[in-house]
Amino acid sequence: MIGRAHFFRLTPGDADRYADHLLRLDEDDRRLRFFRDAPEFMIVMHAGAAACDGRVAFGWEEGGEIRAAGELVADSARAGVGELAFSVEKDWRRRGLGAALMQALIEAGARAGFARVELEFLPENHAMAALARGFSDEVVARDGRLAATVALKPVVSPG
Ligand SMILES: CC(C)(COP(=O)(O)OP(=O)(O)OC[C@H]1O[C@@H](n2cnc3c(N)ncnc32)[C@H](O)[C@@H]1OP(=O)(O)O)[C@@H](O)C(=O)NCCC(=O)NCCS
Repeated sequence: MIGRAHFFRLTPGDADRYADHLLRLDEDDRRLRFFRDAPEFMIVMHAGAAACDGRVAFGWEEGGEIRAAGELVADSARAGVGELAFSVEKDWRRRGLGAALMQALIEAGARAGFARVELEFLPENHAMAALARGFSDEVVARDGRLAATVALKPVVSPG
């Protein structure tokens, strides 16, 4: 297991490293992550947007390479709702990084004033189902996917 994982916020300078991380996902994992075939150009564009457009995006690195990442994207159609997405490279899985990213993004979402965050995944994604179960007891089927919801407690700042 990873001890207390240290995540850093992705900035524009991390776009290439984030793209490299996502490009190391194989075809099956890309489909689990993006819900569709994800060609290289799409992944490069996605990484650039995620690192530059102000969304909360966390990375975890080892030896200068990003090996795990998570994003929180505001749902433009539903105020106060954020969508989460994760990726952990194969050789770094089952060490608690996915769960630690989830916890970090839930805390960041609460600080940013989101009322709830949702996590969508394909029904065959048993890893994500196990991870989601640890945080949400509200998992529903939606448009051929599963959606787990976590209600966030408002953060009250002192003073
Ligand atoms: C889903 C994913 C992020 C999990 O990352 P991870 O770092 O391996 O997850 P963790 O080690 O934190 O495991 C979290 C929980 O899920 C369980 N789990 C992880 N992988 C599992 C698997 N393949 N089968 C069953 N359970 C699994 C763990 O046992 C753990 O449960 P526990 O706390 O009860 O022990 C990773 O597999 C991944 O990147 N997959 C490809 C992309 C993807 O599916 N993204 C999700 C859609 S956005």
